[in-house]
Formats: sequence, structure tokens, C-alpha cells
Amino acid sequence: MFKELSRTLATICALVLAMIVVIFSTAFIISGQEPTYSTQESQEQIIDIVPKTVLTEQQKKGKSLFNANCAACHKLLKKAIGPALYGVTDRYEKEWLYKWITNSTGLIKSGDAQAVALYKQYNQTSMNSFPHLTTQDIDAILDYVESSKN
Ligand code: HEC
Repeated sequence: MFKELSRTLATICALVLAMIVVIFSTAFIISGQEPTYSTQESQEQIIDIVPKTVLTEQQKKGKSLFNANCAACHKLLKKAIGPALYGVTDRYEKEWLYKWITNSTGLIKSGDAQAVALYKQYNQTSMNSFPHLTTQDIDAILDYVESSKN
């Protein structure tokens, strides 16, 4: 009887020990992996931050053109009087954007489907036309818009 009991106890002890070994070695392996995760993360964060702070000359030009001409109605990430502009180059062709920005009214009047839909969506608020902006100016604005997540 006593022998059996001690055998059972010994088995339980062995099992508990085995579990402890498994738990500790798992914890050890996981903790060994963690540093690699966090370096990857911080690298990603750095990649994320760079475009925000370091603007190219073209983007700087775009930023001042944006602030002077567009900021009254547009934000980059939030809807204002007009739509949030971030990602706009994925939504439209470059040629369409040149036409829209230099003469949105003309594009709407020409019956362009995207322009008409947009105009209706924004309750027929008119965007100014900017005939004086060259394609290089618009490229700079769009470059700035897409580079910044602020
Ligand atoms: C007076 C306000 C106003 C100004 C200033 C303005 N916009 Fe707009 N913009 C709008 C409105 C409103 C719309 C939505 C369409 C409409 O109602 O005509 C729009 C739409 C757009 C769109 C289409 C966006 C989308 O996601 O569909 C682009 C691109 C755009 N504007 C770029 C510009 C740029 C670049 C400038 C500066 C050069 C500018 N806008 C200045 C009001 C403005």
C-alpha cells in the first residue's frame, strides 16, 4: 500500500517536473526570439517615420503649393470641405488629376463620369480651378500629398 502510494507520488512528481521543464524551455525559446521581433518592428517604424520628416526638394515645393492653394479645403488624411487627398493617385489617372486640378468645372461640364459623380457626392460644392498650376507644380503637390501621412 505504502509502496504503491510512493510510486504514484513519484510519478506525479516526475510529471510536474517535466511540465516545469517544458514551460521553462518554451519561455526561454520565446524570450530568445523576442529581440528579433522588436528589431524588425523598430526598422518598420523607422521606415514609416522617414517620409514624414525628410521631404525631398520636390515635396517641399509641393507642400508650399498645397498650403497656399489647397489647404483651405483639403486635409491629407481627413475629409474637410473636399475629400482627404492621401491616396488620390491610386484612385485616379495622372492625366485626370491634371485636368481636374486645373479645371474641375470644365471636367464636370464635359460630362466626365468620375468628375460628375464626385461633384454630386460633395453636394455640388465647387472646387476652384487652378489654371496657373503647371503639370510640374501638380506633380510636386501630389508627391507631397502621397509622401506625408500627417
Ligand atoms: C474651395 C475649396 C477647394 C479648394 C481650394 C481645393 N479643392 Fe479640391 N476639392 C474640393 C471639393 C469640394 C472636392 C469634391 C468634388 C467637388 O465637389 O467638386 C474636391 C476634390 C478634389 C480632388 C478629388 C479627390 C477625390 O478623392 O476624389 C482632388 C484630387 C483635389 N480636389 C485636389 C485639389 C488640389 C490639388 C487643390 C489645390 C491646388 C485643391 N483641390 C483645392 C474643394 C477644393
